Amino acid sequence: MCGIIGYIGNKPATPVLVQGLRRLEYRGYDSSGVALLQDGAITRVRSVGKIDNLAEKLKGQEFSATSGIAHTRWATHGGVTEENAHPHAALGGKLVLVHNGIMENYREIKEELQKEGVECVSQTDTEVLAHLIGKYYAGNLRSAVQKALERVHGTYGIVAMHLDEPERLVAARMGSPIVVGGQEDEYYIASDATPILPYTKKVIFLADGEIADVSRNGIEICTLTNKPVEKKVEELDWDENQAQLQGFPHFMLKEIFDQPQVFQDAIRGRYDLADGTARLGGLNMNEEQMRSINRVIFIACGTASYAGMVGKYAFERLAGIPAEVDVASEFRYRDPIIDDKTLVFVISQSGETADTLAALREAKRKGAFVRGIVNVVGSTIAREAEGGTYIHAGPELAVASTKAYTNMVAVMMLYALQFGRARRVSHATGVRLLEAMREIPEKMKQILAEVDTIKAMAEKYKDYQDMLFLGRGINYPVALEGSLKLKEISYIHSEAYPGGEMKHGAIALLSPDFPVLAIMTKNSLYDKMRSNIEEVKARGAKIILVATVGDERAKELSDDVIFVPPTMELLEPLINTIALQLFAYHVAVLLGKDVDRPRNLAKSVTVE
Ligand code: AGP
Repeated sequence: MCGIIGYIGNKPATPVLVQGLRRLEYRGYDSSGVALLQDGAITRVRSVGKIDNLAEKLKGQEFSATSGIAHTRWATHGGVTEENAHPHAALGGKLVLVHNGIMENYREIKEELQKEGVECVSQTDTEVLAHLIGKYYAGNLRSAVQKALERVHGTYGIVAMHLDEPERLVAARMGSPIVVGGQEDEYYIASDATPILPYTKKVIFLADGEIADVSRNGIEICTLTNKPVEKKVEELDWDENQAQLQGFPHFMLKEIFDQPQVFQDAIRGRYDLADGTARLGGLNMNEEQMRSINRVIFIACGTASYAGMVGKYAFERLAGIPAEVDVASEFRYRDPIIDDKTLVFVISQSGETADTLAALREAKRKGAFVRGIVNVVGSTIAREAEGGTYIHAGPELAVASTKAYTNMVAVMMLYALQFGRARRVSHATGVRLLEAMREIPEKMKQILAEVDTIKAMAEKYKDYQDMLFLGRGINYPVALEGSLKLKEISYIHSEAYPGGEMKHGAIALLSPDFPVLAIMTKNSLYDKMRSNIEEVKARGAKIILVATVGDERAKELSDDVIFVPPTMELLEPLINTIALQLFAYHVAVLLGKDVDRPRNLAKSVTVE
C-alpha cells in the first residue's frame, strides 16, 4: 500500500523520483522520502505528509545525483513520523532501502540483530530488513539482498542501493508489485507502470521470488537462488496523457467523464452483432467446458464486489447458471464448496488486492476454473488467473473507483451473453442486448450533462450526517456502490438496503434528518419500489430519486429527482451508478474533502 520508485541513468534523479512519487501517491500518502547517491555519499530527505511537503524540503537544494530511490508511505508498522518514513538506512547510511509490503517476522530478526549490536532508530519492519541486508553485505548488493530475503516471511516489493556500488540498484518482489523498464542507459523501477510511462512503454513485471539487478547497462532478472530468468517485455497501450488530469479538478471527476469512451474500449472487438453473441477470447474454455459449468462465483473486494453482484444477476438472467458473490477476505477462510464444474471470476482494478489474490489461489487449489477480470495489465491477479479479460479502463488514479466499476460490469455482461448464447439465449435477445449496449455511451453522456443539477442537489444534502440508499433487483448493487462512494470520499455515514428489506429494520432510522436516495427507474420492480418510497415518505424523510426521464410521478413522490435515460433493465447499473458517482463527488468537494486521496484509504490494498 506504498509506492516505491528507483532510477539510474543520466538525468538528474530528483525530478524523476519526485514526479514518480506524485504518480504513485494514490497508493499511500502519509509520508515520503528520497535517497540520492552523489559525490561519494547518499543523501536522504524525508518528510511527513503529502509529496508537496517533500518537494518543498528539496527546493533550493542542488542535487547532481543521477541515481536514487524514493517512497510514498501508507503506514503499517510504526506511526506517521519522519523517522519511520522511507528510505531506511543501514551500515551507517551506506545502504538504503525502500519497501512496499509487510515483513511478518521482523520482531525476531530485530532481536537477533540487536544482540549483534545493531541499533534501530525507527519502529518499522523495513529498517530491520535494511539492517538484515547490511548483515549479509560483503561487497555484492544482489547476493546480500538474496541472503536476507531468504529469511523474510511476508510480502515485499523493495529497491536497495549501496554507496560502494553506485552503478547498481537491486529490486525484488514477493506479493507486492514491481515493474522495471527503460532503454539504452536509463532504467526505472516502480510499484506500477504509471511513473515509468513518460519514459518508456516497454516494461517487465517481476513475479514473486524474482530479483531485478538494474544498472546503466541494463536489467538482469534472476531468482532468489540466483537462477537467471528470461522475462517477456510487455508493451503498454496506455499513453501518458491518460494519466494526466486533462483540465479536470480531480482525477475522480476526470475518470467519471472517461466512462463513455472507456466503455467502448471495454466492448470493442469482443462481440458479434450479426450473431448476437459475445466472443471474449481470454475465457480459455472450449464449448464442452463451458457447458460443464454448473456454478459461477464472483470474488472481489469493495467496489469490484458490487460489480460482481451485477455479474451475478446477468449470469442467472442470461446464462441460467446459479451465481453468487463472495467477499474475498471471507471466501478464503470459510472453506468454500468448489469443484471442477465451478467457474470463479476474480475481479480487481489493481490486480494486486491481497485478499482477492489469496482467494484466487484458494479457488485454484480447489480445482475451479479461475478467470480474472482485471484493469492493470500484467498485474499479479491477471498473471495467476488461468485466463480472463482486461477491462481496458486505462489508469485509474483516484482512490475511489468509478470507470473500472463500469468496465467490470461491461465485461461481465459480455461473459454472461457468451455463456447465455451457448445455452438458452436466443439470437434475437442477444442482438437486442448488444444494440442496447452500443447505445450506452450516448446515454452516459446524457447523465454527465446533468452534472450541474446533481451538484445543486449535493449542495442541498451535504450537511446531513446520515443517508440511506435503496435499490431493488439489479439496482441493489447500484445502491451499495453509491453508498460506498459517498462514505469513502465524504466520510458521511450511509447505508444501502434492498428496497423490500428496509421495512424489516432500517426503516427505524428514518427521520427528517436521515435523507433517502432511492433508485426507482422504470423496470419490472418499479411498482414494488414505489410502494417502498411511499413507506419512506410516510416517515417524513427527505427523498432523492433516480428515476427514468419523463416519470412525472417521481417528482410527486420525492424532494429531488435525478432523471436518467431508459435502457434494458440488466444494463441499468451502467447508467444509474454514474448519477450516484457524481452526487458523492460533489458532496465531498463541497465539504472540502481531498477527493482523490480520501483519509485512511489506499488505491491498492496489498496486505491482508
Ligand atoms: C473503491 O472505490 C475502493 N477503492 C475499494 O473498495 C476497491 O474497490 C477495493 O479495494 C478493491 O480494489 P481492486 O479492484 O483494485 O481489487
